[in-house]
Amino acid sequence: MSKDKFTVTAALPYANGPLHLGHVAGVYLPSDIFVRFLRMNDHDVAFICGSDEHGAAITLRAKKEETTPKEIVDKYNGIIGKAFNDFDISFDIFHRTSAEIHHETAQDFFKVLNEKDHFTKETSQQYYDEEYNQFLADRYISGECPKCQNPNAYGDQCENCGSALSPTELKNPVSTLSGKTPVMKETSHWYLPMERHEEWLKDWIKDGKLDGVQQHDTAKWRNQVVGQCMSWIDGGLRPRAMTRDLDWGVKVPVEGGDGKVLYVWLDAPIGYISATKQWASDNNKDWKDYWTGDRKLVHFIGKDNIVFHAIIFPILLKAHEGLILPDNVPAYEFLNLEGDKFSTSRNWAVWLHEYIEAYPDKIDELKYVLTSIAPETKDSEFTWKEYQTRVNSELADNLGNFVNRVTVLTQKYYDGAVPERGEMTEIDESIVEQMGVFSSKISDLVYQYKLRDAQAEVMNLARLGNKYLAETEPWKMFKDPANEERIRTIMNIAMQITAKLSIVLQPFLPATASKISSALNFVSKSWSDAAEFELIPAGHSTTKAPILFPKIDDALVDVEVEKLNASKVVETVFEAQKKDTSFDNFTEMDIRLGTILEAEKIKKADKLLKLLVDTGLDKRTIVSGIAKHYSPEEAVGKTVTVLMNLPPRKIRGVESNGMILMAENADGELSFISPEKNFEAGSGIS
Ligand code: 2FM
Ligand code: ZN
Repeated sequence: MSKDKFTVTAALPYANGPLHLGHVAGVYLPSDIFVRFLRMNDHDVAFICGSDEHGAAITLRAKKEETTPKEIVDKYNGIIGKAFNDFDISFDIFHRTSAEIHHETAQDFFKVLNEKDHFTKETSQQYYDEEYNQFLADRYISGECPKCQNPNAYGDQCENCGSALSPTELKNPVSTLSGKTPVMKETSHWYLPMERHEEWLKDWIKDGKLDGVQQHDTAKWRNQVVGQCMSWIDGGLRPRAMTRDLDWGVKVPVEGGDGKVLYVWLDAPIGYISATKQWASDNNKDWKDYWTGDRKLVHFIGKDNIVFHAIIFPILLKAHEGLILPDNVPAYEFLNLEGDKFSTSRNWAVWLHEYIEAYPDKIDELKYVLTSIAPETKDSEFTWKEYQTRVNSELADNLGNFVNRVTVLTQKYYDGAVPERGEMTEIDESIVEQMGVFSSKISDLVYQYKLRDAQAEVMNLARLGNKYLAETEPWKMFKDPANEERIRTIMNIAMQITAKLSIVLQPFLPATASKISSALNFVSKSWSDAAEFELIPAGHSTTKAPILFPKIDDALVDVEVEKLNASKVVETVFEAQKKDTSFDNFTEMDIRLGTILEAEKIKKADKLLKLLVDTGLDKRTIVSGIAKHYSPEEAVGKTVTVLMNLPPRKIRGVESNGMILMAENADGELSFISPEKNFEAGSGIS
């Protein structure tokens, strides 16, 4: 049976910022493992990536950094490309959507679809900045959120209340370019009438069938991918604009397209094709072999890209005709960091290039940890503490320890020459039998995109080796010459396990695999070898392996966590201003300073303190919800602000006479409001 052929893509990262560990864990590392495995299994495979260099993501970044989009994409394409290289992600090509070949490819694609009447042209009114003479992308309009009155909501979303918006819903819209009120102006765009494709999409996504013919194995599609797509389709597909009024991007290549560019989500996935073209022409191949016929197209992506890769791009590919549709779209959920979401704007991230710079010798440690916690089916979390624990107790104590023991003992007992096996006992036979299942077990998991479990099986092989040595304890028998044959047998089998590890580790921890290979003086790049028992013959000469994984000490964890906290940008989101009140309303309130004389907790009310307050006029009891922020001891003696003329109220059986006014920050922390000068209780506030 001939082997399946694959074209594997990894989502093109926007060239608007560096990569963080979330990107790596959820796209680039899993796709790299998958491809390395395919290559070892003799599949014909192309592994494609590049940077996504168009769209508002780029132009906004340019504005923020006060430079041009071109400067931005050059800068970040460089940083990202270098990080991939240093991290040893084995793309066949890392291309760019700003390349000429991409512009031509995307334009040709557009023309084909246009000629085949797959677009409709529609006219609508959109916001336009008369000073800058340009239509405004959603992100270029800000205004008041109709839902929560946040005055700084964007045209597509309010970051205060999280509502999805459209620009015309904003009250008092302003252009973020000129700061002026935009006008409405008529414009025409090419739309993809997605509703025309609902029927075939349903069959294709749910059952893997196209025109009744089985295309892909739906059992291998992740639930969240099928679920998200079906809920989109069931909600009814609508026409989606495929062009924009912008000057940064791929120019619309047909009549009427002046001043317009392709929608970035049309242009970017075509980037996979143009990158393949570039790679094929550099390597004397025909790009069409990678996009037509019986080839499996696999898109590794993050979950926010699902509909673009499993609905919109397939519609475009099918409409174009002659190109293959994805065989699978393994989408990853999100990775969080130390209890919070990764965030570029808040600088809450571990940046890949910074990690590599700080720990150039710990690349495989990071790969191992990220695959162990990869968000395959649900969101997961990276913490430096867990990184330390996994490196120390799994990599160092299990894998590193086993390889070290085997090579050191072989050196000590036999000057590095693999000893000959003698007669095998029951335990040896059982180990050999157990060793035999690993390569096919791991391979089944990889073909099902279960890379986390696959890596865990690799570690189980090392665990088996450790258990074998711990049970047989050759070092204890060594003194007695009667055990000579027994020890040879054990060490020979242990050496075969080590050689097998050097093969099955390759997709996951390639640098470690090659360190083991060098020590063993044994290299196999073929997965099928891993099914064999005897990989190294007796007499073969080996050397001692270096320490594979030095232990991570507490200081590293402390430094990294401190670094994160120190560089965190606290985004303060305060509630929008309330609606106008009157001066009379304000003067009706009697507000003055008071001093807290006594404070005690109220039973069964963990938020409340019962305070006795000297208000200058009297001493009164006030119940205040501050117990989470001040202990009774901290509260006593403080000068605070009191709203005096609030009618008495019973709270948990205690009569409260007035209210202590508190300041609250964006994290919900409370603070007393105390005068800057040393004023006595009773002083009025107006
Ligand atoms: O979400 C993103 O980072 C996009 N730049 C991914 C694009 S993937 C593909 F379509 F190019
Ligand atoms: Zn809002």
